[in-house]
Amino acid sequence: MTAFNRQAAFDQAAAILEENDRGGYTVPTHGLYPFQWNWDSCLTALGLRHFDESRAWTEIETLLSHQWPDGMVPHIVFHEPDEGYFPGPDVWRTGRPTPTSGITQPPVLGFVLKRLFDEARDRKLADEKAKALLPKAAAWHRWFYQARDPEGTGLVAIIHPWESGRDNSIDWDEALARVPTEGVEPYRRRDTEHVDAAQRPHKAEYDRYLWLVQKFRSLGWDNSKLHDASPFRVVDPGFNAILIRSGLDLAALAEILGETGLAEEARGQASRARAAFEKLWNPALRHYVCYDRAGGVLVDSVSVGGLLPVFAGLGDKEQQSAIADRIREWRGQTRFGVASHDLADPRFESKRYWRGPCWLIVNYLISDGLARCGLPELADAVSADSLALISENGFAEYYDPLSGEALGGGSFTWTAAMVTELLTERGGEAPVRRSARA
Ligand code: DGY
Repeated sequence: MTAFNRQAAFDQAAAILEENDRGGYTVPTHGLYPFQWNWDSCLTALGLRHFDESRAWTEIETLLSHQWPDGMVPHIVFHEPDEGYFPGPDVWRTGRPTPTSGITQPPVLGFVLKRLFDEARDRKLADEKAKALLPKAAAWHRWFYQARDPEGTGLVAIIHPWESGRDNSIDWDEALARVPTEGVEPYRRRDTEHVDAAQRPHKAEYDRYLWLVQKFRSLGWDNSKLHDASPFRVVDPGFNAILIRSGLDLAALAEILGETGLAEEARGQASRARAAFEKLWNPALRHYVCYDRAGGVLVDSVSVGGLLPVFAGLGDKEQQSAIADRIREWRGQTRFGVASHDLADPRFESKRYWRGPCWLIVNYLISDGLARCGLPELADAVSADSLALISENGFAEYYDPLSGEALGGGSFTWTAAMVTELLTERGGEAPVRRSARA
């Protein structure tokens, strides 16, 4: 990218962050996702920080002000009614003062808090905000290890594919097939009114997504019951790696802030998780894979979830180099990295949401992890792919790794946020922050 284009890309990203700003929170994109989403919002704060640190902290504060009394941070906060999305609050019926969904999402929060804190220009503000938000983040992690690991294995399970953030990944196919569809109330999808159905999950998956929602609703959203009652319980290496990295970052932050009890708790959780993590390594595939906890089997599926352990520095040198080899192999088979699934798998689909497309947020987490694991050249190559994608095809929700075609929603917030990060962190001349926020 030329210097001119770097600045243009940065300005476009700034404009998208502004366009999707709804005051104290940011929507992922107009129309398709008209509310506040958990991990979208956290990663969005990393973009906002480049223009207005106070607004970045507010994004997180708003999300956490809808934390449940048991510690869970819900995956959607339905701030304003909007008929353009399904399933809305009338389906979830969680009984929260401001309606929310009843499941959670990948906990990037700890990582984001640490990054906002470390990079802060306004130290006083960062100290004050981090001190207030740290116990809430710690409560969420405590909830994970209680509610989603009731037997104390060290690793947490997701109980709904939407929790993974990788909704229709091939990783879930077998476990999801076990979820029944009898009794699913009639419904009308809205996502396929915004986006080509060929880029979204199939109806067979939606039926099961909704069956699970109805099941959990019938149990009054009581998290002491949901894990064991769910026929879908999967231990995802990607999700657990994010939780471990966020835990380590929370521990470091707690240490700096003098919260030694919280630091110790977070370190303990991370070290138990690290010890248990090796059970997810499949030596024949040379990849970390999911464990289907309800079915009692490791899942033969080579996805981006198995690359994310580098984000937490997991694995030994050999395992990390297997991950690096896999990324190189996939990049060699596509125009742009990183595909979300193994291209050799007959179930790979280059345009269907999480069954093949590239996502900038995943590239960002992988690139951060590769650099952390001493693989800076590959980290830079992955970041360069992200910038090439937006430079050729704009700020989409996700992209076809073979052609680079923009897919899903447009003017996408977290894609914009990642671009601001990449342009300011990854060398080259830093763009000038000159949006209306500056
Ligand atoms: C959707 O509606 O597609 C979301 O990914 C669920 O959170």
